[in-house]
Amino acid sequence: MTLSVKAFAKINLFLDIEARRDDGYHDILSVMQSIDLCDDITLEKIERGIELSNDIGIEKERDLAYRAAAAFFGAVGARGGVRISVDKRIPMGAGLAGGSADAAAVLRGLNSLYGDPLSKKELAELGLTLGSDVPFCVIGGTKITRGRGEKMTDMPAMPDCPMVVAIGDDHVSTPAQFAELDRRFDNFVSYRPKSECVDGLFEAFSNESAAIEKYLYNIFEITGRFSPEIKEIMTSCGARGTLMSGSGSSVFGIFRNDADAAEAADKLTESGYRAFMCRPINNI
Ligand code: C5P
Repeated sequence: MTLSVKAFAKINLFLDIEARRDDGYHDILSVMQSIDLCDDITLEKIERGIELSNDIGIEKERDLAYRAAAAFFGAVGARGGVRISVDKRIPMGAGLAGGSADAAAVLRGLNSLYGDPLSKKELAELGLTLGSDVPFCVIGGTKITRGRGEKMTDMPAMPDCPMVVAIGDDHVSTPAQFAELDRRFDNFVSYRPKSECVDGLFEAFSNESAAIEKYLYNIFEITGRFSPEIKEIMTSCGARGTLMSGSGSSVFGIFRNDADAAEAADKLTESGYRAFMCRPINNI
C-alpha cells in the first residue's frame, strides 16, 4: 500500500522571544502560517524496517523523515515498516521548516497507513521530540505559537494572497542565531516581546481590509542573515510587506496581485536567487 502526502513549508509572520529557558531553548511568541510550497512524500508499507529511497546528503539516522518514522513505530509498537521517498522543493536551513514539514508529513502519513492509532494532538506531541517546529507542521494553518513552538492557539485564517519566498545560498545555523540574540538582548532577562503585533495580525485577519504589513516582525532580522536585495526587488515589484522567515535566511513578500508576485519571482531568479510563488494554506 502506498500513500502520497504533502509536506507544507511554514513562514513566521511574526517571531519574537519571551524568555531564554534553562534547558537551552527559548520560549518564543510567533504567528506561524502554512504555505503551499511543499515537498512531496511517498510512503510505501513494507514488511519491516525504514528505508529512505532518496539521498539528500544527510546521514539516515539524522534525517528527520527517517527519525519521524522511527519515532512513530516506537510510539505505537506497530509491526511493519515503510519505504519513504521525498521529492524536495523546500530549501533546507532556510527558516521554512523544510525538515520539520517532512517529519510531520511522515507522522501523519504513517498514522493514516497504520489505521490512525494516534490523535493529531498525540502526533504533535511525538513531533516535539523531533524538533520545535514539528508540532506546528503536524497541525498547520494559521496559529499563534508559544513555548518551543508546541503551544498553539487558533487564529483567524490568513486571507488568501499571492506571496513569493526567496533565498540566496546562505545556510543559517538556528542555534548560532539564538546565541547571537542572547548576546544582543542580554539573555532576554528584562525583554518584552512585541505582542501588540500578534493582536494586530489577529485583528487584520478578522477584518480583511486591515493592513497586515504593519504587524510583520521577526526579531532575527537584526542578525542580518538575509539578502537585503531580495527585499528591495520584492518592494520594487509592489510587495505590501516583506520579512525574513524563522532564523533565516529566506525572505517572503506579500503581494496585491499575481502579476506583481510573478514579476518579483522572475526578477529574483534573474538575480540568482531561488524564488517560489506561493499562497497561504489553511487546511493541510
Ligand atoms: O528544536 P530544534 O531541534 O529545531 O532546535 C534547534 C536549536 O534551536 C535548539 O537546539 C536550540 O538551540 C534552538 N532553539 C531554541 N528555542 C526554540 C527552538 C530552537 O533555542 N524555541
